[in-house]
Amino acid sequence: MTERCVTHSEAQTEALGESIAQRSGALSAIALKGDLGAGKTALVRGLARGLGSADSVTSPTYAIVNEYRGARRVCHFDLYRLSGGDDLWEIGWEDYLASGALCVAEWCDVAREMFPPSTLWIDIEKAGGDTRCFTLRWPEEAEAC
Ligand SMILES: Nc1ncnc2c1ncn2[C@@H]1O[C@H](COP(=O)(O)OP(=O)(O)OP(=O)(O)O)[C@@H](O)[C@H]1O
Ligand SMILES: [Mg+2]
Repeated sequence: MTERCVTHSEAQTEALGESIAQRSGALSAIALKGDLGAGKTALVRGLARGLGSADSVTSPTYAIVNEYRGARRVCHFDLYRLSGGDDLWEIGWEDYLASGALCVAEWCDVAREMFPPSTLWIDIEKAGGDTRCFTLRWPEEAEAC
């Protein structure tokens, strides 16, 4: 299922993240694609809040992965500085997935082949000013949610 959403502020993008959190039960991963400043981290901030986390959410550009505690743990990756799937493997991607945490990754194109079938793919496009267009591609098995 493909869904399109448009937001006009950072707060609206966070609210979209919260609504995705409510529908994320069957997801293992969320793959985020979008330019610098597209709103990837803003979306994850809403997502973590929607899963009951009070932790602060920032781009894990240097740390590669941040973790947020909530009703379900969120592991927030930034793949920007990795050179490919092998690097992601090295940091324990498979273990993060197997742990039951929701694994959310910015710059997913760096390692597209590493995402499991139960991934929600999100493309974000800047459409002038504060407008952002989101394309959400839900996996088949999550459609019943
Ligand atoms: N509709 C919108 N949704 C999200 N952010 C918006 C929107 N309009 C303006 N902004 C601004 O765009 C920026 C988005 O920053 P954010 O860190 O979420 O982007 P990012 O995609 O994670 O970037 P990076 O690739 O650098 O990690 C913020 O400064 C925010 O205020
Ligand atoms: Mg970011």
